[in-house]
Amino acid sequence: MNLPKKAEIIEVGPRDGLQNESEFIPTDHKIALINALNKTGIKRMEATSFVHPAYVPQMKDAKEVLQGIVQDPNIQYMALLPNEKGFDRAVEQGVQAVSLVVGASNSFNLKNVKMTREESINQLEKVVLKARAQNMFVRYNIATAFWCPFEGMVDDKLVLDMVKKINRLDVDEIVLCDTIGRANPKQVYSLFKSILEIQPDAMITGHFHDTYGMGQANVLAALQSGVTRFDASIGGLGGCPFAPGAAGNVATEDVVFMMNELGIETGIDMEALRFSLNLVREMSNRNLMSHYNMILEHSCV
Ligand code: COA
Ligand code: ZN
Repeated sequence: MNLPKKAEIIEVGPRDGLQNESEFIPTDHKIALINALNKTGIKRMEATSFVHPAYVPQMKDAKEVLQGIVQDPNIQYMALLPNEKGFDRAVEQGVQAVSLVVGASNSFNLKNVKMTREESINQLEKVVLKARAQNMFVRYNIATAFWCPFEGMVDDKLVLDMVKKINRLDVDEIVLCDTIGRANPKQVYSLFKSILEIQPDAMITGHFHDTYGMGQANVLAALQSGVTRFDASIGGLGGCPFAPGAAGNVATEDVVFMMNELGIETGIDMEALRFSLNLVREMSNRNLMSHYNMILEHSCV
């Protein structure tokens, strides 16, 4: 098996995880979660998003969250944003790392950010230039990179072309997101393999949801293709309010558990993760999709 010695887990729970929660989570609970995640060994996380508060009310306290957390100098706190307005709001808060998003599928992009794919790409090009001028870290997410809730399977050539175009902008990281959790391991392996062949030096990250129970299999398939960075969400929370049917992200603790079993170093401490997991359990009114949480609840470990 072709496995790396190390892999990086990027925590997206405070953003992707919480954005889909139906009831507003008090700001101090979000802050407590991020402060707890600070102690797990995680080095990068999406802390919040600067999107329209009317469309995603859960993220309306982005400013207060960023002001309230303990910002560990060794951790990168990223804010997701879809447009120039979001960028301006992030700059006001002194954000150093931005996470941009466009959908590979035009139908999804229209629903998600009310722009065509090309409109988003053009607007985000300006954002990248501005961010670069301020020495910010730029992460660029391609949502619905495998499947779209409205158009079905996404053409891999289209995604490859997007990756090439985005890479020419000199961004730091490109994330391929299976936003609705519908991709299969063969599709994942093949797309990442093609990307790494044409862009061997690019920082490429996999972002998987677990709607059809293929999340971990997709992580493994991506590992096999050479990807060593993965987004994950504590407790397996997550989903996009504009992607009907999308379930949670792969759970951080499940991915870390698998990496540990495979002898892949992540630098994340399972015991410390448990504390964050307890907070998530109290915060969410849903059944968590995390397998590790299920095991804990049945007192198996
Ligand atoms: N944050 C806050 N307000 C914003 C904003 C942002 N990022 N972008 C635009 N606005 C405001 C504008 O200032 C304007 O305000 P005004 O009416 O007071 O002048 C208003 O929203 C309309 O601007 P417009 O550019 O036409 O926005 P829109 O209504 O077309 O919405 C988005 C576009 C991108 C802001 C909206 O679709 C959105 O927030 N989507 C988020 C999707 C998301 O978070 N998905 C999950 C993560 S992938
Ligand atoms: Zn996601």
